[in-house]
Amino acid sequence: MNNSLNFDFLVIGSGIAGLSTALHLSQQGKVAIVTKRNIEESNTKYAQGGIACVIDRLNDSYEKHCADTLLAGGNVCDEEIVRKIIKEGPVAIEHLISLGIKFTKSNEMNSRTKSNDFDLGKEGGHTERRVLHAGDITGFEIEKGLVEGCKKNSNIEIFEKYIAIDLLSSKSNNNSNENSIQGAFVLDIDNNKVISFTAGSTIVASGGAGKIYLYTSNPDIACGSGVAMCYRANAQIANMEFFQFHPTILFHPDAKSFLISETVRGEGGTLKKITPDGKFVEFMDEYHKLKSLAPRDIVARAIDNELKKSGDDCVYIDITHRDEEYLKKRFPNIFEKCMEYGINMSKTPIPVVPAAHYSCGGVQTDVNGWTGITGLYVVGEAAHTGFHGANRLASNSLLEASVISKLAAIDISKKVEGFKKIQAKQEVQKWTCGDATNSDELVVISHNWDEIRRFMWDYVGIVRTQKRLERAKTRIRNIRYEINRYYWDFNITSDLIELRNIASVAEIIIDSALQRKESRGLHYNSDYPKTSEKYKNTIIEKNKEF
Ligand code: SIN
Repeated sequence: MNNSLNFDFLVIGSGIAGLSTALHLSQQGKVAIVTKRNIEESNTKYAQGGIACVIDRLNDSYEKHCADTLLAGGNVCDEEIVRKIIKEGPVAIEHLISLGIKFTKSNEMNSRTKSNDFDLGKEGGHTERRVLHAGDITGFEIEKGLVEGCKKNSNIEIFEKYIAIDLLSSKSNNNSNENSIQGAFVLDIDNNKVISFTAGSTIVASGGAGKIYLYTSNPDIACGSGVAMCYRANAQIANMEFFQFHPTILFHPDAKSFLISETVRGEGGTLKKITPDGKFVEFMDEYHKLKSLAPRDIVARAIDNELKKSGDDCVYIDITHRDEEYLKKRFPNIFEKCMEYGINMSKTPIPVVPAAHYSCGGVQTDVNGWTGITGLYVVGEAAHTGFHGANRLASNSLLEASVISKLAAIDISKKVEGFKKIQAKQEVQKWTCGDATNSDELVVISHNWDEIRRFMWDYVGIVRTQKRLERAKTRIRNIRYEINRYYWDFNITSDLIELRNIASVAEIIIDSALQRKESRGLHYNSDYPKTSEKYKNTIIEKNKEF
């Protein structure tokens, strides 16, 4: 294969945001999708709860969904963007259905809700039932439908086991200082070869960054590569201190990252702790009027507080009032997984702990996913549109990704010729760094990785203090210095690429948290427990050093 490949559009990442954007863009030209594992591997695949959308027009309304989103978001969401995304929701759902994705119907669940035939679930912070789902494997079904759509499309070429290293960033020769992105340097993992993918528009859809933390619901791929690459390409990064911790991940020594969906609480499951004499008792009434269905930031902090007070390893979700037949039908995947670990959820409460789940901050974009940089768009979890504010409402992210992917494709169609004119005057950047070889530093890389994940959990987790944040800052500086000084120019491996990205994003989160001298939404600093009256987004731009 050549060291350089040219497409009209380059999409980095293969979750709902990347695949949907690729499908929309395929109507305008040739699209390359690069993805670092197999095409299905993405955060989307593991989403259980569903996709929030106003479907039940009798009981629900756009106004109600907007109000819930704004309230959960600490009243700092971009209201115009919230309205736009929520109103575009039904059209985005139609698109998913047109690809053959099947959402559970109410008659399959014994006709509990009769809204246009769909069974609508409920999650924390939603005042109405509005979560479309496919059993409890919604993300898996959505991913499957989108992958099939992309594979059938002759304008889309898929590159699996290709990991993006950096964006191809150029400046104009005429001193206009116009920064432009013309594609990306990508490592072909199997062949240890760096390839330049050039394109008129590059769409970063690389998903989340949960692997920055020791405990996470995210799969191994979630290393924050989009935010890290865009930061290095001089994009603005917004509000990274707002990292969402999902309150309920299965607690079992052999279970890795398995989510117990909030929809289990939506169907009546309650959070309980165990007393010294072995009784299960509820505790959420001490923290919020919505009890077990309070917004996530409140539930995660309440659990953290209970665990710190008691010294216990976990709390529990009790849904034993529902019978086995119902639970198997509504939560087939969760039921089966719990049984693998000897837990019959119809008989025993499920042990759970909080874990890092979703990055509400990201690369600053407008409602079309445009970063303001020629040729560069960001969609999905890697982006910050202002939709989630200081705390994302459950199941709003699949909605955001599917709406923005279409808006991005429309916006690109209007801007692409202008991008090309600017890019024609620029020289395409050449790969000048180290070779792709097997590193003899693998042990050091994995130890650095572990160190970052551990101190991020201890110092930059659910409850923060200035001292903890400052300690984290000192450590991350050393690690980033080592990566740049000792490894980067010598041998590039996919492990090193990921380490470099998690280190960059960890530092961005720490810097953002240090700047926010208040507590709001997902950012809780016990040295600044109050919410300030004035609100400002936290914006981080590239540090001159690295
Ligand atoms: C869940 O099912 O609890 C996760 C849904 C989400 O994070 O949006």
